[in-house]
Amino acid sequence: MGLVIWIATFVKLLDDIFDYVDDSYGWEFEQNVTFYKPYSKSLPTKQARLLTLWDFLGIPHKEKKQLSGSRLPIIGFEVDPNGMSITLPPQSKEDLVTFVQLFVDSPSRRRKLGEYQSLAGWMNWSFNVFPLLRPSLSNVYDKMKGKTNANASIYLNEAVKDDLRWFIKHITNANGVLLFEGMDWNPFLE
Ligand SMILES: *[C@@H]1O[C@H](CO)[C@@H](O)[C@H](O)[C@H]1NC(C)=O
Ligand SMILES: *[C@@H]1O[C@H](CO)[C@@H](O)[C@H](O)[C@H]1NC(C)=O
Ligand SMILES: *[C@@H]1O[C@H](CO)[C@@H](O)[C@H](O)[C@H]1NC(C)=O
Repeated sequence: MGLVIWIATFVKLLDDIFDYVDDSYGWEFEQNVTFYKPYSKSLPTKQARLLTLWDFLGIPHKEKKQLSGSRLPIIGFEVDPNGMSITLPPQSKEDLVTFVQLFVDSPSRRRKLGEYQSLAGWMNWSFNVFPLLRPSLSNVYDKMKGKTNANASIYLNEAVKDDLRWFIKHITNANGVLLFEGMDWNPFLE
């Protein structure tokens, strides 16, 4: 996908197309639309041109995934560039809280490294919207340090549990909206 975005940017001269794994997104002026024949509808010009490029390269895509509008879901977050906010949808937040709570309540005193990794990955993703909750992973990362076998079992100590409870408490009380204050948000660097 990196190469495709490179072609879009430097050959097709489509500015500001961003990509995260297989999720590409960008902006366009509201009035700037182009009729895209395969879907028989008008799309933001840049999006129509990107799809035309995909067609040319033989990259398949589905109509229901080609979204546009003033708010867009991007890697699971609701992004509103005009309101300058990103929101974690309530259902996603609830799922995450349930997952973390189950981890804390594990009947066994041990969890596998792979499970720690899933937990850390999911919580880390939520820090895009809740950057102040980052410290809640410090003991988790400490426990994972230097271990590579996904089956290795790691003791679930009180320090880890306390951090996770702290995370649950704060994420539950937060409204799930991050307002940008002229900052540059980038899922790669954040
Ligand atoms: C419409 O969008 C295309 C692609 O982003 C851009 O090249 C073009 O300049 C835009 N036209 C207007 C009138 O904004
Ligand atoms: C946390 O997520 C960011 C992207 O949002 C990523 O760059 C970083 O490597 C992740 N950290 C860990 C330890 O996985
Ligand atoms: C982890 O456990 C699974 C199932 O018990 C096993 O198939 C796999 O080979 C193990 N992996 C390692 C790296 O020990």
